[in-house]
Amino acid sequence: MVVLAGCGGDYPQSTIDPVSGDFGSAIQGLYRLVFWWTMVILAVVWGVLAYVLFRYRSRPGAPEPKKIRGHLGLEIGWTLGAAVIVVLISVPTIQVVFRTQLQPEEGALVVEVVGRQWWWEFRYPAEGVVTANELHLPVGRKVALQLRSADVIHSFWVPRLGGKRDVNPWVREPDAAAPRVNRLMLTVDEPGIYPGQCAEFCGPSHGLMGMRVVAEGEAEFQEWVRRMKGAAPPQLGSLADRGREIFMRSSCIACHAIEGTAAQGAIGPNLTRLGARTTLGAGLLQNTRENLIAWIRDPASLKPGVKMPGVAEGGGGLPPTGLTEEEVEAVAAYLASLE
Ligand code: CUA
Repeated sequence: MVVLAGCGGDYPQSTIDPVSGDFGSAIQGLYRLVFWWTMVILAVVWGVLAYVLFRYRSRPGAPEPKKIRGHLGLEIGWTLGAAVIVVLISVPTIQVVFRTQLQPEEGALVVEVVGRQWWWEFRYPAEGVVTANELHLPVGRKVALQLRSADVIHSFWVPRLGGKRDVNPWVREPDAAAPRVNRLMLTVDEPGIYPGQCAEFCGPSHGLMGMRVVAEGEAEFQEWVRRMKGAAPPQLGSLADRGREIFMRSSCIACHAIEGTAAQGAIGPNLTRLGARTTLGAGLLQNTRENLIAWIRDPASLKPGVKMPGVAEGGGGLPPTGLTEEEVEAVAAYLASLE
């Protein structure tokens, strides 16, 4: 145990170090509750075991101990005891489940989370912003996530914010006024960047379906919203200009949208201000020029099954883009300029 403890380090996806005072702390409280109850069970079982081993150990000349068959009192005792512990664990658990999926409160920031193979879409309906894979949230304000999937079942999990929640295909019940979504209410208390991960097996690149939560002050968040809406047009150089031309006349725009341009595809990740993101490919790669070029050139080599065509290989039902290396570099320059 001591040696293993030495392996401890700075793990950004720690579930026992919450930065969310409501959801994260509630989940940690449940974790501790279960932990201490299992410790009680462990102590009782091992205590009885140790006593029996010592008390009835083999000794030269000792008679065989008396055999007992069935003991009503004991059986009632351990059945009731176990049942009481289950109730003491399940009641607080169910309370937390219901408390964290209420309808959005007044003043809460509503974000629609759409799970897709294999990336995350984040839509801010009141702000009119759509982005992918990096969820910007203001610190100290109640956030109401509305989770649904565009394809198969995913699971939203940012360990430092709290537990997982299933992201299910949008079920429209016959008589319901609105489609049913899963909800998650939480508040982030500390600014920072918190990585998360899809936690439900969803296909070949399930393990590469990452995301980041960027928690920032209210003013910075508002500034991000303002810039996402195209208040700051990108500064283009000649290579980036050429990249924009190529992007707008190629199959890129069949799937991708960039705010303020003719690109309005809704199948792939929204690329508005891609240059300002920290990672590419749903948390897979650092957002550098080299990685962006590698991604555009051959995404399937980086993310198996990806629904995006590369230069020489089709994907997502689209033929290969057939871009030259110079054109790939130009498109990368354009996307990187979108800050
Ligand atoms: Cu999405 Cu696993």
